[in-house]
Amino acid sequence: MRILGIETSCDDTSVAIYDEQRGLVFHSTLHQNHVHAKFKGIVPELAARSHLNQLLFLIKKIFLKYPLKQNTNVNNNGFHAIAYTIGPGLASSLLVGATIAGSISLALNIPCIFINHLEGHLLSVMLSSLEDPFPCLVLLVSGANTQLICAQSLGQYIILGNTRDDSAGNVFDYTAKLLDLGFPGGKKLSDLAQNGQSRKYIFPRPMTKYASLNFSFSGLKTHVRKIILNSSKSLQEKSNIARSLEEAIVETLIVKCELAIQKTNLKNFLVCGGVSANHLLRKRIKNLIQSYGGKCFFPKKKFCTDNAAMIAYTGFLKYKSGVFCRHPTIVVNPNLLINETII
Ligand code: KG4
Repeated sequence: MRILGIETSCDDTSVAIYDEQRGLVFHSTLHQNHVHAKFKGIVPELAARSHLNQLLFLIKKIFLKYPLKQNTNVNNNGFHAIAYTIGPGLASSLLVGATIAGSISLALNIPCIFINHLEGHLLSVMLSSLEDPFPCLVLLVSGANTQLICAQSLGQYIILGNTRDDSAGNVFDYTAKLLDLGFPGGKKLSDLAQNGQSRKYIFPRPMTKYASLNFSFSGLKTHVRKIILNSSKSLQEKSNIARSLEEAIVETLIVKCELAIQKTNLKNFLVCGGVSANHLLRKRIKNLIQSYGGKCFFPKKKFCTDNAAMIAYTGFLKYKSGVFCRHPTIVVNPNLLINETII
């Protein structure tokens, strides 16, 4: 069985093929940094237009490698289904992927599998691990989301905590923008932090004194903005700010992760989403989970940010369990939650 996956939820255009026997046999992603860099942030209209060109280019690449045949019997070389991201994300970006996926589904007479982008991130861990992480706690830290989730089993998710305003990834990007590090800035800020002085600035650890598992990062953005306005623009000072901010974000996340472990008694811990590539976060999570005698799961770094490998793989699992739509259908839901399913 072979599943074609398409991801266009934000500003990465990605396609992948997951094969039941051989695993991930094709994966290609085109970024749009050159399109958005001059605006220092993602412009939805431009993201959608860029997806159109990039996605057609990638689909052509796939069809050259895997010439298409009508899927009239299970032994042909074609795809058994097409999985695409239906949300959450930017509506206009999602619509490009959904429309092209729906068209391919119609042309090839194969089913569509609707993929929740957040579930894709969660299952990205399984692309490189044979071990089943369930039941586990999940810290989902991406550009748009900061959530603590109890994942009881595949498809059974309970949201334990969520951000009330901005995400942790958004604070990384916002600060990188103020420090003129370019776009997208999370990784650049983290690299700069390596040379910074630890705890030179004392940033708040928002909501860590409350027993709730929710997060709030907007105050941290105001705080860092004031510090940057009043500090020197030298590289060393930028590094010091980056280091202190990274420590504040990571320590805030760690406090809530520990609280979640204590509340649920779950010891397996999975971290996913773009910010899960952060080395300080990985180190601190490993130390925390070790102290509770649990096990950590992280995606490979190349699968942390948005990618279609996780979409094709999630599609494969859904197809195997019969969770798909037999008719070509174009569905998007920009505000989809991890525990919402559309079939
Ligand atoms: O998962 P993702 O591609 O986006 C969503 O699905 O929302 O994550 C992108 C986010 C951005 O905020 C980016 O700055 C952040 O992940 N990021 C990092 C690192 N690499 C990516 N943040 C901190 N440290 C990193 N090494």
